[in-house]
Amino acid sequence: MKVFYLAAEAEPYIKVGGLGDVAGSLPRALQEVATEQDFEIRVAIPFHGAIQQQPPPLKFLTTLQIPHYPQPWQAQVYEVEHHPVRTYLISGHLFTPDVPVYSSDTRFDGLKFTFFSLACLEFVQAINWTPDVVHANDWHTAPALYAMLRQQEDFFRHTAKVITIHNLPYLGHGAAEALTEFGLPPALDSPLPGWAQHLPLPLGIYAADRIIAVSPTYAQEIQTTDFGAGLEEYLSSRKTEITGILNGLDLNIWNPSTDPYLHQKYHRNRLDKKAANKQNLLEELGWEATAESPLIGMVTRLDYQKGIDIAISSFRKLKDLAWQAVILGTGNPAIEQAVYQLQLEIPDRLRAILRYDPSLSHRLYAAADLLLIPSRYEPCGLAQMIAMRYGTVPIGRATGGLRDTILDTGNPYTSTGFLFQNPQSEELEATLRKAIQLYANRRAWRALQRNGMSQDFSWSRSAKEYLNVYQQVIQVKRSDSVSEGVHV
Ligand code: GLC
Repeated sequence: MKVFYLAAEAEPYIKVGGLGDVAGSLPRALQEVATEQDFEIRVAIPFHGAIQQQPPPLKFLTTLQIPHYPQPWQAQVYEVEHHPVRTYLISGHLFTPDVPVYSSDTRFDGLKFTFFSLACLEFVQAINWTPDVVHANDWHTAPALYAMLRQQEDFFRHTAKVITIHNLPYLGHGAAEALTEFGLPPALDSPLPGWAQHLPLPLGIYAADRIIAVSPTYAQEIQTTDFGAGLEEYLSSRKTEITGILNGLDLNIWNPSTDPYLHQKYHRNRLDKKAANKQNLLEELGWEATAESPLIGMVTRLDYQKGIDIAISSFRKLKDLAWQAVILGTGNPAIEQAVYQLQLEIPDRLRAILRYDPSLSHRLYAAADLLLIPSRYEPCGLAQMIAMRYGTVPIGRATGGLRDTILDTGNPYTSTGFLFQNPQSEELEATLRKAIQLYANRRAWRALQRNGMSQDFSWSRSAKEYLNVYQQVIQVKRSDSVSEGVHV
């Protein structure tokens, strides 16, 4: 089985968000769980400016001409050396050192990622490596699937198309012209709503044989008005081809007993040592160490999706209780400003650290007692899984992957965290009150922590589910080709 996995970002080469974690870990996990001797997965990502600044050891492979009007564009393909999974970096004149992975110029990003998607297809043809599955992720690489459907190249006749949706509302607005420039016309003959017939993600979904959402709940939610981004009707018409598969966690990176960033390493049976991390962080922040009041952490993109505004309003109403909070992240300037404003109001309770800081994020996961994830929607979410692994109790909104990974039975001895239903500050406030009160009950709290730490969030389970999906789509493709043969 040969799988070609396309993504806009992948660890360890480049990571901006959760997609980078997944595209870094899943292919490796697949390679490990696939018992088939001849299973091979290869990954392609763009040779982004940030990678060029500190490139891994590379081998130049080839230059390709990518059909584009009015004239073709050139792509250069490199292969990473000493890779655990064969990985290609694809470059072109739009990928200069100062160009960010994602920009606010949607037309430019449209060109960049459409170019990349098509270059991937040209490349495997050039080296004559026929994948059984092309697996695209989000809108950036969706054009590859649509091109396979449109262009009906003989080369891909037996290749199945799979897409994973990590974040549906990012449909690829602004990329319509780019698609046309690269010879991909709108799908006017498709059952997609009219406005979606020229957008990359809807087109990729339309072309895909199987659609994967990053959690079972999200797979259901995207078929409803609240979460469907306007595609809910189309998506429910394809419900039998939609599968929800939870992302896993890289347990080597996220392990409190080996994490090199931590002040004090610990594990499930030495939770007492976790406290040293809290004390250390509080001191670093210039706060008096108070074991009595819980430390609430947020490690998040400062984005509307993440419900930071809901957290801010709840924090304002909780002044009568003892707690402290640290918010770490960057993002939307208006949200950054709002978080900073709250710090000015309650400096002895809240600290806003508005930067990207991997080391601090590890230390905050270890130091915090509670981790807050009040997302409006959360296709999967990694923060809650990391929190549980670090004995930090998550409070999440009951949506998407949060609902699928946090267990809240109302009884701490059988729960792993807290869930609230609606993205409203009253509900979060009530849940925070409950959590802060429970924190005083040491025995119950320890039980909650241990339950969370005992969960299995490893990639191997998800990888097996992906493998199943691959096997199914390949089988369908093969039987299709057989029946095609009969007609001929
Ligand atoms: C997106 C989603 C997040 C998910 C990640 C990886 O960033 O917002 O919920 O965990 O993709 O699939």
